[in-house]
Amino acid sequence: MKSTIQHIAFNVEEIRKDFPILSRKVNGNPLVYFDNAATSQTPQVVIDAIVNYYSSINANIHRGVHSLSQEATDAYEQARQKIQTHFNAKHSHEIILTSGTTHGINLVAHGFSSLLQQGDEIIVSALEHHSNIVPWQMLCEQTGAILKVIPMNQEGELVISDYDNLLSEKTKLVFVNHISNALGTINPIKEIINKAHNVGAAVLIDGAQSCPHLKPDVQALDVDFYVASAHKMCGPTGVGVLYGKSSWLNKLPPYQGGGEMIAEVTFKKTTYADLPHKFEAGTPNICGVIAFGVAIDYINSIGFDNIAAYENELLNHATKNLLEIEGLKIYGTSRNKTSVISFNIEGIHPYDIGSIVDKLGIAVRTGHHCAQPIMDFYNIPGTVRASFSFYNTLEEIDVLVDAVKKAKLMLS
Ligand code: ALA
Repeated sequence: MKSTIQHIAFNVEEIRKDFPILSRKVNGNPLVYFDNAATSQTPQVVIDAIVNYYSSINANIHRGVHSLSQEATDAYEQARQKIQTHFNAKHSHEIILTSGTTHGINLVAHGFSSLLQQGDEIIVSALEHHSNIVPWQMLCEQTGAILKVIPMNQEGELVISDYDNLLSEKTKLVFVNHISNALGTINPIKEIINKAHNVGAAVLIDGAQSCPHLKPDVQALDVDFYVASAHKMCGPTGVGVLYGKSSWLNKLPPYQGGGEMIAEVTFKKTTYADLPHKFEAGTPNICGVIAFGVAIDYINSIGFDNIAAYENELLNHATKNLLEIEGLKIYGTSRNKTSVISFNIEGIHPYDIGSIVDKLGIAVRTGHHCAQPIMDFYNIPGTVRASFSFYNTLEEIDVLVDAVKKAKLMLS
C-alpha cells in the first residue's frame, strides 16, 4: 500500500489540515487537544489506510494461497520492514508485532519467568508507568526474584549514582522508560543500558512516550528490548512493537499458544515457528499494523528534528506562561524533558481544573497518570497534565493558560 505523504517544510497550519478531528468543536469551543501522551490524533492518510484495507484487501495473512491473502500478507510484512527501518533493527524477525507497549512488556516478563531464580534482582525506576512495574512484580512473585528501584529527585530525574549502587552480579534485568509519561523527563538510557551490560543484565526500554518525539536507534543504543505503541505516534490503537535482539528472543519461550506460532503440532509434541512468528499467535491486527506503517511514513515526512525543535518551543512557551499563574507548581523540571507539563494549583484538586477546562474545549489528563509512585513521591493525589504534539500551536497554549486562570478564579 503506497502512502501519499509529502511535507516540504514544517508548517503547523498545513499539518493541522491532515488531522480532521482538529477542526471539531467540543462543548461549543474549538477542540484544543493536549492529551497527546495518552493517545495521539490520527492523520487522514492513516484513516485512509484503514478504510482502504477493509474496502479492498481484507483477508487473513500467512494462511491462504489466494491472491487477497497474499496481498494482505505482503502489506503486513512490508509494514514490519518499515518498523524495522524506523527503529534501525538489524533483522525484520527482531520486530514482534503486538497489541501495544503493555503486551510487549508482559511478553518479555512471561519469557523471563523460566530464566530467573530465587534471589536474582530486577531493577525498575521510580519514574515508571504501572505497566512497567506490575508485570515485574508479578514476575518476582512467581520466581522469588527481588525488585529494586532507582530513586528520583525533586526535579523528576533518576538518581544515577544510586543506580550504580543497585547494580551487581545479581542484577538480571533492568526496566526503564525512555521518557516519563507523567513528567516528561527524558532518561539517560544509553548510560543506563551500558551500566546494566557491565554486570551482564539485560535491559528493556519502554518507549511508549519517546516514540512520538524522537527516533530510537536500537542498534546504537545496544538495547536488548524496546517496546512502543502505534497509537502514540499517529497510528491506530491496539497495535505496538516489541523489538528484541534475536539472541534474547530465541531464548524466551512463546507467550501464547495458537495458530501461526507453530512449526508442527501433534498430540505428543508441538514445535514452534521461527522468529517473529513464535510470538505472534492468532490472527493479528492486520489492518492496524499496515496503518502503523503508514503512520511511520507520515511522522517521518514531518521529520523528528522539526518535531523536537517545534515541540520545545511549545514547551517553553507553556512553561513560562503557566508559571506566571500564582500558586501554580510544575512537577518534573528536568532540563532534559519533552513537551509534557504536569501541574497543580495550590488548594485546588486537579480533577476540578480538568473539568472546567474541558467545558472550554480543552482536553488534558488529570489524576495519577498510571504512575502512582510518582504522585506518592510528591505527596499529591495527582496532577493536571498537558502534553503537546507537533500539530498543537502557541495560540492553543494561550487558550489553555487563560482557561486555567478562569478555573483558578472559579475554584479559589
Ligand atoms: N499511558 C498513557 C498516559 O500516560 C495512557 O496517559
